[in-house]
Amino acid sequence: MTAGGIGERDAAAPDRGALLKKIREAIHSATGKDDLLRAVVRVLSEGVGDYTWTGIYILEGDTLVLHNQIGTPTPHERIPLGAGICGLAARERKTVVVPDVGLDSRYLACSPTTRSEIVVPIFKGSEVVGEIDVDSDRQDAFGEEDRRLLEETAQLVGERL
Ligand code: SME
Repeated sequence: MTAGGIGERDAAAPDRGALLKKIREAIHSATGKDDLLRAVVRVLSEGVGDYTWTGIYILEGDTLVLHNQIGTPTPHERIPLGAGICGLAARERKTVVVPDVGLDSRYLACSPTTRSEIVVPIFKGSEVVGEIDVDSDRQDAFGEEDRRLLEETAQLVGERL
């Protein structure tokens, strides 16, 4: 790469377009909702090295319940809407990015190695029905491309739930 070319982060970045295509294919060939939710987590986790922990929570009443995950088992398999970054994203009905979890007192720790997090609500119509949660061991790991990828993924998932 010549000087002034794309930076290290971009050079290492996976092709989000190709990943979204894989996600569409996985959703299309899923045999049911459980299979679909597991397939989406798998494709995201395998697709981006920085996604150290990837999971999907489903909203049951006032509680976010972990459906499936790839990464260190979390003590937070059930999160009340009032708690954590997950609760915040569901209450505010919007994506929450935490570039440095050490600086956010609302953060509920899953693994001591986690440095940053993004939580993206999944809507069915106008209702929040769940969310995609991704943690990274790298500080400030989630940029606009990640937000776009995960929001588009959440939309595809919401259309099928
Ligand atoms: N960090 C989340 C809890 C879920 S674990 O990271 C998997 C939160 O603050 O809500």
